[in-house]
Amino acid sequence: MSDWLENEVAVVTGGSSGNGRSIALTLAEYGADVVVVDLQAEPREGGTPTHERIRADHGRDATFVECDVSSVSEIREAVDAADEFGGVTVMVNNAGITHSDDFLEATEAEYDRLMDVNVKGVFFGAQAAARRMVEAERSGSIVNVSSIAGLVARGDGVRYSASKGAVRLMTYAQAGSLGPRGIRVNAVHPGLVETSMTRDDLEVFRSDSAERFRRETPLRQICQPQDVANAVLYLASPLASFVNGESLTVDGGVTNTMGGWEDG
Ligand SMILES: NC(=O)c1ccc[n+]([C@@H]2O[C@H](COP(=O)([O-])OP(=O)(O)OC[C@H]3O[C@@H](n4cnc5c(N)ncnc54)[C@H](O)[C@@H]3O)[C@@H](O)[C@H]2O)c1
Repeated sequence: MSDWLENEVAVVTGGSSGNGRSIALTLAEYGADVVVVDLQAEPREGGTPTHERIRADHGRDATFVECDVSSVSEIREAVDAADEFGGVTVMVNNAGITHSDDFLEATEAEYDRLMDVNVKGVFFGAQAAARRMVEAERSGSIVNVSSIAGLVARGDGVRYSASKGAVRLMTYAQAGSLGPRGIRVNAVHPGLVETSMTRDDLEVFRSDSAERFRRETPLRQICQPQDVANAVLYLASPLASFVNGESLTVDGGVTNTMGGWEDG
Protein backbone atom coordinates (compact mmCIF):
# COMPACT_ATOMS: atom_id res chain seq x y z
CA MET A 1 0.00 0.00 0.00
CA SER A 2 1.03 3.59 -0.60
CA ASP A 3 2.18 5.77 2.27
CA TRP A 4 0.25 8.83 1.07
CA LEU A 5 -0.66 9.69 4.66
CA GLU A 6 2.68 8.92 6.33
CA ASN A 7 3.22 11.40 9.21
CA GLU A 8 -0.43 12.45 9.12
CA VAL A 9 -2.65 12.28 12.21
CA ALA A 10 -6.35 11.89 11.50
CA VAL A 11 -9.33 12.51 13.76
CA VAL A 12 -12.47 10.73 12.53
CA THR A 13 -15.80 11.48 14.20
CA GLY A 14 -18.38 8.72 14.15
CA GLY A 15 -15.39 6.47 13.52
CA SER A 16 -16.72 3.41 15.34
CA SER A 17 -19.32 2.35 12.79
CA GLY A 18 -20.39 2.42 9.16
CA ASN A 19 -18.78 5.03 6.93
CA GLY A 20 -16.62 6.46 9.72
CA ARG A 21 -15.17 3.03 10.57
CA SER A 22 -14.25 2.43 6.95
CA ILE A 23 -12.75 5.92 6.68
CA ALA A 24 -10.64 5.44 9.83
CA LEU A 25 -9.37 2.02 8.71
CA THR A 26 -8.56 3.28 5.21
CA LEU A 27 -6.67 6.36 6.40
CA ALA A 28 -4.63 4.07 8.68
CA GLU A 29 -4.02 1.64 5.83
CA TYR A 30 -2.47 4.53 3.90
CA GLY A 31 -0.21 5.55 6.78
CA ALA A 32 -2.10 7.82 9.18
CA ASP A 33 -2.30 7.50 12.95
CA VAL A 34 -5.94 7.84 13.95
CA VAL A 35 -8.08 9.17 16.80
CA VAL A 36 -11.49 7.51 16.64
CA VAL A 37 -14.17 9.77 18.10
CA ASP A 38 -17.63 8.44 18.86
CA LEU A 39 -20.36 8.02 21.45
CA GLN A 40 -19.28 4.38 21.80
CA ALA A 41 -16.26 2.28 20.86
CA GLU A 42 -18.32 -0.75 19.78
CA PRO A 43 -19.29 -0.70 16.10
CA ARG A 44 -23.07 -0.54 15.65
CA GLU A 45 -22.75 -3.41 13.18
CA GLY A 46 -20.63 -5.47 15.60
CA GLY A 47 -16.98 -6.49 15.49
CA THR A 48 -13.71 -5.31 16.97
CA PRO A 49 -13.54 -1.61 17.89
CA THR A 50 -12.00 0.44 15.09
CA HIS A 51 -8.95 1.66 17.04
CA GLU A 52 -8.06 -1.93 18.01
CA ARG A 53 -8.36 -3.07 14.39
CA ILE A 54 -6.13 -0.22 13.23
CA ARG A 55 -3.40 -1.28 15.65
CA ALA A 56 -3.72 -4.97 14.80
CA ASP A 57 -4.17 -4.77 11.02
CA HIS A 58 -2.18 -1.67 10.08
CA GLY A 59 0.33 -1.26 12.93
CA ARG A 60 -0.53 2.41 13.32
CA ASP A 61 -1.09 4.36 16.51
CA ALA A 62 -4.77 4.64 17.29
CA THR A 63 -6.92 5.59 20.22
CA PHE A 64 -10.61 5.96 21.02
CA VAL A 65 -12.16 9.07 22.59
CA GLU A 66 -15.73 8.97 23.84
CA CYS A 67 -17.36 12.19 22.70
CA ASP A 68 -20.67 13.67 21.68
CA VAL A 69 -19.78 15.96 18.76
CA SER A 70 -22.64 18.28 19.65
CA SER A 71 -20.68 19.33 22.77
CA VAL A 72 -18.09 21.98 21.91
CA SER A 73 -15.92 21.15 24.93
CA GLU A 74 -16.00 17.42 24.14
CA ILE A 75 -15.07 17.83 20.46
CA ARG A 76 -12.20 20.15 21.43
CA GLU A 77 -10.89 17.56 23.91
CA ALA A 78 -11.22 14.84 21.28
CA VAL A 79 -9.16 16.86 18.79
CA ASP A 80 -6.56 17.58 21.48
CA ALA A 81 -6.17 13.81 21.98
CA ALA A 82 -4.35 13.80 18.63
CA ASP A 83 -1.48 15.69 20.29
CA GLU A 84 -0.34 12.33 21.68
CA PHE A 85 0.55 11.35 18.09
CA GLY A 86 1.95 14.76 17.05
CA GLY A 87 -1.20 16.81 16.48
CA VAL A 88 -4.16 16.68 14.10
CA THR A 89 -3.46 17.19 10.38
CA VAL A 90 -6.56 15.50 8.92
CA MET A 91 -10.03 16.08 10.36
CA VAL A 92 -13.00 14.06 9.14
CA ASN A 93 -16.34 15.37 10.41
CA ASN A 94 -18.40 12.29 9.69
CA ALA A 95 -20.66 11.73 12.73
CA GLY A 96 -24.29 12.22 11.82
CA ILE A 97 -27.80 11.04 12.51
CA THR A 98 -30.95 10.78 10.45
CA HIS A 99 -34.70 10.45 11.01
CA SER A 100 -37.69 8.81 9.43
CA ASP A 101 -40.49 10.94 10.81
CA ASP A 102 -42.86 13.09 8.83
CA PHE A 103 -42.26 16.85 8.48
CA LEU A 104 -45.65 17.60 10.03
CA GLU A 105 -44.81 15.52 13.13
CA ALA A 106 -41.27 16.78 13.88
CA THR A 107 -40.77 18.35 17.30
CA GLU A 108 -38.50 21.18 18.40
CA ALA A 109 -36.38 18.77 20.47
CA GLU A 110 -35.90 16.44 17.48
CA TYR A 111 -34.99 19.39 15.25
CA ASP A 112 -32.46 20.69 17.78
CA ARG A 113 -30.81 17.30 18.29
CA LEU A 114 -30.33 16.64 14.58
CA MET A 115 -28.97 20.12 13.90
CA ASP A 116 -26.69 19.93 16.96
CA VAL A 117 -25.07 16.71 15.76
CA ASN A 118 -25.10 17.23 11.98
CA VAL A 119 -24.38 20.97 11.75
CA LYS A 120 -22.99 22.27 15.04
CA GLY A 121 -20.80 19.17 15.37
CA VAL A 122 -19.25 19.82 11.95
CA PHE A 123 -18.83 23.56 12.60
CA PHE A 124 -16.98 23.13 15.90
CA GLY A 125 -15.17 19.97 14.84
CA ALA A 126 -13.64 21.86 11.93
CA GLN A 127 -12.93 24.88 14.11
CA ALA A 128 -11.19 22.80 16.80
CA ALA A 129 -8.98 21.07 14.22
CA ALA A 130 -8.19 24.27 12.32
CA ARG A 131 -7.18 26.04 15.52
CA ARG A 132 -4.70 23.29 16.35
CA MET A 133 -3.31 23.29 12.78
CA VAL A 134 -2.84 27.08 12.85
CA GLU A 135 -1.21 26.97 16.32
CA ALA A 136 1.15 24.24 15.10
CA GLU A 137 1.81 26.22 11.88
CA ARG A 138 0.98 23.11 9.85
CA SER A 139 -1.12 22.73 6.75
CA GLY A 140 -3.98 20.27 6.89
CA SER A 141 -7.09 18.86 5.35
CA ILE A 142 -10.65 18.84 6.64
CA VAL A 143 -13.31 16.62 5.08
CA ASN A 144 -16.96 17.09 6.01
CA VAL A 145 -19.40 14.28 5.30
CA SER A 146 -22.60 15.62 3.77
CA SER A 147 -24.95 13.53 1.60
CA ILE A 148 -26.68 13.68 -1.76
CA ALA A 149 -29.49 15.01 0.46
CA GLY A 150 -27.29 18.11 0.75
CA LEU A 151 -27.39 18.52 -3.04
CA VAL A 152 -30.99 17.65 -3.85
CA ALA A 153 -33.86 17.69 -1.38
CA ARG A 154 -35.94 14.77 -0.19
CA GLY A 155 -39.48 15.30 1.00
CA ASP A 156 -39.16 12.50 3.52
CA GLY A 157 -36.09 14.02 5.16
CA VAL A 158 -36.66 17.72 5.69
CA ARG A 159 -34.41 18.14 8.74
CA TYR A 160 -31.76 15.84 7.28
CA SER A 161 -31.67 17.69 3.94
CA ALA A 162 -31.51 21.04 5.76
CA SER A 163 -28.58 19.84 7.86
CA LYS A 164 -26.65 18.35 4.94
CA GLY A 165 -27.22 21.41 2.77
CA ALA A 166 -25.81 23.47 5.63
CA VAL A 167 -22.75 21.21 5.75
CA ARG A 168 -22.17 21.75 2.01
CA LEU A 169 -22.21 25.56 2.17
CA MET A 170 -20.36 25.57 5.50
CA THR A 171 -17.64 23.56 3.77
CA TYR A 172 -17.27 26.15 1.01
CA ALA A 173 -17.15 28.98 3.54
CA GLN A 174 -14.60 27.16 5.70
CA ALA A 175 -12.50 26.56 2.57
CA GLY A 176 -12.51 30.30 1.91
CA SER A 177 -11.66 31.10 5.50
CA LEU A 178 -8.91 28.52 6.01
CA GLY A 179 -7.35 28.32 2.52
CA PRO A 180 -4.98 31.23 3.20
CA ARG A 181 -3.70 29.25 6.22
CA GLY A 182 -2.88 26.23 4.05
CA ILE A 183 -5.88 24.22 5.24
CA ARG A 184 -8.07 22.62 2.57
CA VAL A 185 -11.74 21.91 3.31
CA ASN A 186 -13.91 19.68 1.12
CA ALA A 187 -17.14 17.71 1.37
CA VAL A 188 -18.19 14.25 0.29
CA HIS A 189 -21.79 13.50 -0.65
CA PRO A 190 -22.57 9.78 -0.45
CA GLY A 191 -25.71 8.32 -1.94
CA LEU A 192 -27.55 5.52 -0.17
CA VAL A 193 -24.91 3.53 1.73
CA GLU A 194 -25.51 0.20 3.39
CA THR A 195 -24.82 0.94 7.10
CA SER A 196 -26.67 0.63 10.41
CA MET A 197 -28.16 4.06 9.71
CA THR A 198 -30.00 2.85 6.63
CA ARG A 199 -30.46 -0.79 7.68
CA ASP A 200 -31.66 -0.22 11.26
CA ASP A 201 -32.67 3.45 11.66
CA LEU A 202 -34.44 3.87 8.32
CA GLU A 203 -35.11 0.20 7.59
CA VAL A 204 -34.49 0.91 3.92
CA PHE A 205 -33.33 -2.64 3.27
CA ARG A 206 -36.52 -4.14 4.69
CA SER A 207 -38.62 -2.57 1.95
CA ASP A 208 -38.07 -2.41 -1.81
CA SER A 209 -36.67 1.16 -1.52
CA ALA A 210 -33.05 0.05 -1.65
CA GLU A 211 -33.68 -2.14 -4.67
CA ARG A 212 -35.46 0.71 -6.45
CA PHE A 213 -32.53 3.01 -5.63
CA ARG A 214 -30.09 0.43 -7.00
CA ARG A 215 -32.07 0.18 -10.26
CA GLU A 216 -32.12 3.97 -10.65
CA THR A 217 -28.35 4.19 -10.07
CA PRO A 218 -26.41 4.10 -13.36
CA LEU A 219 -23.74 1.82 -11.82
CA ARG A 220 -26.55 -0.49 -10.61
CA GLN A 221 -25.05 -1.00 -7.15
CA ILE A 222 -25.60 0.25 -3.61
CA CYS A 223 -22.73 2.36 -2.29
CA GLN A 224 -20.54 0.65 0.31
CA PRO A 225 -18.67 2.39 3.16
CA GLN A 226 -15.39 1.63 1.37
CA ASP A 227 -16.54 3.77 -1.59
CA VAL A 228 -17.03 6.71 0.78
CA ALA A 229 -13.69 6.02 2.49
CA ASN A 230 -11.86 6.04 -0.87
CA ALA A 231 -13.23 9.52 -1.62
CA VAL A 232 -12.22 10.82 1.81
CA LEU A 233 -8.76 9.27 1.37
CA TYR A 234 -8.30 11.14 -1.90
CA LEU A 235 -9.39 14.48 -0.44
CA ALA A 236 -7.21 14.02 2.65
CA SER A 237 -4.14 13.03 0.63
CA PRO A 238 -1.55 15.06 -1.30
CA LEU A 239 -3.22 13.85 -4.52
CA ALA A 240 -5.85 16.52 -3.79
CA SER A 241 -3.24 19.19 -3.04
CA PHE A 242 -5.06 21.94 -5.03
CA VAL A 243 -8.62 20.76 -4.34
CA ASN A 244 -10.36 23.13 -1.94
CA GLY A 245 -13.99 24.07 -1.39
CA GLU A 246 -15.14 21.11 -3.48
CA SER A 247 -18.04 18.68 -3.27
CA LEU A 248 -17.26 15.10 -4.26
CA THR A 249 -20.40 13.06 -4.92
CA VAL A 250 -20.13 9.30 -4.33
CA ASP A 251 -23.41 7.93 -5.60
CA GLY A 252 -22.81 5.84 -8.72
CA GLY A 253 -24.14 8.72 -10.82
CA VAL A 254 -27.70 8.81 -9.52
CA THR A 255 -27.88 12.51 -8.57
CA ASN A 256 -26.59 13.99 -11.81
CA THR A 257 -28.53 11.68 -14.09
CA MET A 258 -32.12 10.63 -14.24
CA GLY A 259 -31.13 6.98 -14.37
CA GLY A 260 -31.80 5.38 -17.71
CA TRP A 261 -34.57 3.85 -19.74
CA GLU A 262 -33.32 0.34 -19.17
CA ASP A 263 -34.53 -1.64 -16.23
CA GLY A 264 -31.35 -3.21 -14.89
N1 LIG B 1 -25.74 5.59 5.30
C1 LIG B 1 -26.08 6.41 4.31
O1 LIG B 1 -26.85 6.07 3.41
C2 LIG B 1 -25.48 7.79 4.24
C3 LIG B 1 -25.65 8.52 3.06
C4 LIG B 1 -25.13 9.80 2.97
C5 LIG B 1 -24.45 10.34 4.04
N2 LIG B 1 -24.30 9.62 5.18
C6 LIG B 1 -23.60 10.25 6.29
O2 LIG B 1 -22.48 9.47 6.66
C7 LIG B 1 -22.21 9.71 8.04
C8 LIG B 1 -22.08 8.38 8.77
O3 LIG B 1 -23.30 7.68 8.62
P1 LIG B 1 -23.39 6.10 8.73
O4 LIG B 1 -24.33 5.66 7.68
O5 LIG B 1 -22.05 5.50 8.80
O6 LIG B 1 -24.15 5.98 10.13
P2 LIG B 1 -24.00 4.91 11.32
O7 LIG B 1 -25.16 5.16 12.20
O8 LIG B 1 -23.77 3.56 10.75
O9 LIG B 1 -22.67 5.38 12.07
C9 LIG B 1 -22.62 6.66 12.65
C10 LIG B 1 -21.63 6.68 13.80
O10 LIG B 1 -21.66 7.99 14.34
C11 LIG B 1 -21.80 7.92 15.75
N3 LIG B 1 -22.49 9.08 16.27
C12 LIG B 1 -23.79 9.40 16.15
N4 LIG B 1 -24.06 10.53 16.81
C13 LIG B 1 -22.90 10.94 17.36
C14 LIG B 1 -22.53 12.04 18.17
N5 LIG B 1 -23.45 12.93 18.59
N6 LIG B 1 -21.24 12.16 18.55
C15 LIG B 1 -20.31 11.25 18.17
N7 LIG B 1 -20.60 10.19 17.41
C16 LIG B 1 -21.88 10.04 17.00
C17 LIG B 1 -22.56 6.63 16.00
O11 LIG B 1 -22.36 6.14 17.31
C18 LIG B 1 -22.01 5.71 14.93
O12 LIG B 1 -20.87 5.02 15.39
C19 LIG B 1 -23.35 10.59 8.56
O13 LIG B 1 -22.95 11.94 8.58
C20 LIG B 1 -24.43 10.35 7.54
O14 LIG B 1 -25.35 11.41 7.50
C21 LIG B 1 -24.79 8.36 5.31
